[in-house]
Amino acid sequence: MKLARIARIGHAALTKDPHPPPCVLGAEDAFSSLRSSLPASFLLGTATASHQIEGGLDNDWTDWERGASREGEPHIKDRTVSGAACDSWNRIEEDIALMRRLGANAYRFSVEWSRLEPTEGAWNEEAADRYLAWALALRAAGIEPMVTLHHFTLPRWVATQGGWMKDRTIELLASFSRKVAKKLGSAVDLWCTINEPNVLATMSYVKGVFPPGLTDSRIAAQVQARMLKAHARMAEAIREADTTDADGDGRATQIGIAHHVRIFQPATRSPLDRLIAGFTDRFFNEAIASAPLTGRIELDIPGVIHIDEAVPGLLGSFDYMGINYYGRDHVRAELRDPSLSKQYVPADRPVSDLGWDIYPEGLYQVLKRYGALGLPVYVTENGIADKGGEVRPSFLRAHFEALVRAAREGVDVRGYFHWSLLDNFEWAEGYEPRFGLFRVDFDHPDKRRTPTPAVETFQEIARGLGLRPEPG
Ligand code: BGC
Repeated sequence: MKLARIARIGHAALTKDPHPPPCVLGAEDAFSSLRSSLPASFLLGTATASHQIEGGLDNDWTDWERGASREGEPHIKDRTVSGAACDSWNRIEEDIALMRRLGANAYRFSVEWSRLEPTEGAWNEEAADRYLAWALALRAAGIEPMVTLHHFTLPRWVATQGGWMKDRTIELLASFSRKVAKKLGSAVDLWCTINEPNVLATMSYVKGVFPPGLTDSRIAAQVQARMLKAHARMAEAIREADTTDADGDGRATQIGIAHHVRIFQPATRSPLDRLIAGFTDRFFNEAIASAPLTGRIELDIPGVIHIDEAVPGLLGSFDYMGINYYGRDHVRAELRDPSLSKQYVPADRPVSDLGWDIYPEGLYQVLKRYGALGLPVYVTENGIADKGGEVRPSFLRAHFEALVRAAREGVDVRGYFHWSLLDNFEWAEGYEPRFGLFRVDFDHPDKRRTPTPAVETFQEIARGLGLRPEPG
């Protein structure tokens, strides 16, 4: 396949005015027809990341959280630090009970590199035992674990060696992946190597709001390329180390990446806005998404950097494409900005608490676009910052409908993971945004969890798939 076709579908998504999506499910039968639209093995779950929920960590982010910009602005907008977070490190039974209450049959979580290898050459077997126990407990509860190996954070010792700016990190992460896959392989088949290389590269090296806080798009391109190389090496290491088929489907591993895809809508019909929207789309969406087909890294920032390189092991390293979808940006050319563009949401659009455009049609568009890669697709993240919890039910319903519509039109979509199970530490934003299906009272000594109204919506979807939510 057929890059031209994917590019065409992508281009259509960029340039056509969105039509209101037809309601595929009908209000009265709600989600009761889901079983006939989705595969019997469809995974319905939630997603989290270690730094955002576990608590008690010590890594490049915990250092960053205590800092401020040169102008004196704290790195974390609401001046919080991740600290104890949801204390999920000590509360996995409680969290699994919440998943059972949702009726989920899958859970995506990440293992924390700084916990497992706190210093170079050290290995924390106790922490590894705990992650294995989690995976086994999930399986025992009928919940398929998907394990992410890198979700934004680095151990301090890796960061001080240059982190993603150094090629050595590729081998360090591959060797870490081999150890984790060996340890957890008997309980885990579904592996996600890296979460959102494009977001990490942009936030850390273009916008400077994640560590190490640089604003250099040339470095961002190099980092994104390095992460794809790391993915290939990690995939190889995981396949070598995990030879146990834990779920009995005949395969010991299924490996992919969680790729953040956005819709970039040109702000006007001006050729420059369209050009910049297309360029942003290629840099942010396409560079990663085309890699499984080409086996190459192709990244181009006109006048800044051009990367076009075959990567050994990249072809064949993807068993699936994970899509993290949150919304749409309008794009206007802004040639003085390092990203060459200004991205914004028009004032008349419905938005989340973070001001992000609520655009479920976009999920349908990206699934159609990347379903054409010829790989199975998982929605590895989708969710909304909604403090009051009133918008999340319709958000979830509309996005799930978009997924079902894509599936009915032939997209091989195998699962949906809602971001997130719990309210959590939202990186540079701190604790203010609330993404959880369950609200977390961070001031309570037990980090008390309470359901938001979207729990019922999730349960409805689960029942539609033949799953059985447990009473709370
Ligand atoms: C990240 C999550 C984050 C979520 C909401 C995704 O880009 O993978 O870690 O919390 O978006 O911002």
